[in-house]
Amino acid sequence: MQKLVGQTAIVTGASSGIGKACAIALGLDGANVVVNYAGNSAGADEAVETIKNEGGNAIAFKADVSKQDQVKAMFKAAVDTFGTVDILVNNAGLQKDARFTEMSLADWQFVLDVNLTGQFLCAQEAVREFQRRGMSGSKALGKIICMSSVHELIPWAGHVNYAASKGGVMLMMKSLAQELGPMKIRVNSIAPGAIKTPINYSAWHTPEAEARLLKLIPYKRVGETEDIGNVCCWLASDESDYIHGATIFVDGGMTLYPGFEDNG
Ligand code: BGC
Repeated sequence: MQKLVGQTAIVTGASSGIGKACAIALGLDGANVVVNYAGNSAGADEAVETIKNEGGNAIAFKADVSKQDQVKAMFKAAVDTFGTVDILVNNAGLQKDARFTEMSLADWQFVLDVNLTGQFLCAQEAVREFQRRGMSGSKALGKIICMSSVHELIPWAGHVNYAASKGGVMLMMKSLAQELGPMKIRVNSIAPGAIKTPINYSAWHTPEAEARLLKLIPYKRVGETEDIGNVCCWLASDESDYIHGATIFVDGGMTLYPGFEDNG
C-alpha cells in the first residue's frame, strides 16, 4: 500500500545518488515530488520520468540550495504546481576534499554553503509553508528529513569541511526538532554510511578499493541508494510518527568502531 498519497515532497540534490533514489522511492510511494537539481538536468529528468512511468507526479526544478532567492522560487513552484509541501528531504550535499593545510577558504566555504546553509534555507521555507497551510492529510503538520552522514559522528581526516558540515547538520536538526516539535513538525536525520554513488566512486569501483572499504563495514556490504530510499519513505510516513529529533544510521554498522572486531 502506498504510504504518501496526497502529500508533496521536495527532494534537494535529486538528480543523482541518494537524492535521486529518495525522490523515486517517495514518488512510487504516492507522493508528488519536486526533483531539485543544481546542474544535472538529465539526471533530474530521468527521476521525473521514472516516477511518471509508474503513474506518479513529479517535476524537475533547478535551484542552488545555498541561494535564498532560488530556494524561495523552488517552494513557490512546488506550491503553484501541487498546492503545498508536506515533506522536505534536505539532501543536497557535496565533497571538496583536501588535506587541511591545502584546503582553500573557497572549498571550505562552498561545502558549508551547500551542505549546511542549504539545509537551513530549505528548512526555513518548508516550515513557513507548513505554517501557512495548516494541518492536512498527515498526523504531522510537516516532516523534515535531513541527509546527514556517519561523519556527523566519525571524524574524517582530509575532509574537515565535509565532516564539519555534517556535525553542523546534526545539531541543526536536533535544535530544529526541539523548537518545532510543539508545532507538530517532525524533524529527523538519516546518516548514511558508504553508499554506492558518484560522490565516493573511487572508494568502491575497483575490487581493491571495495575490499578496503569493507574493512570499515561490519555487515560486509557496501550500501545501495535504495537502502536509503526505503528508510526515507518510512521516516516521511505516519508509521514513524513518534520518531522525532533522531538520527537513523543506515551504515551496515560503520559506526560500531569496526577496528575493534579483532582487537581482543
Ligand atoms: C561520504 C562518502 C563516504 C561515506 C562513508 C559519506 O558521507 O559522502 O564519500 O564513503 O560517508 O565514509
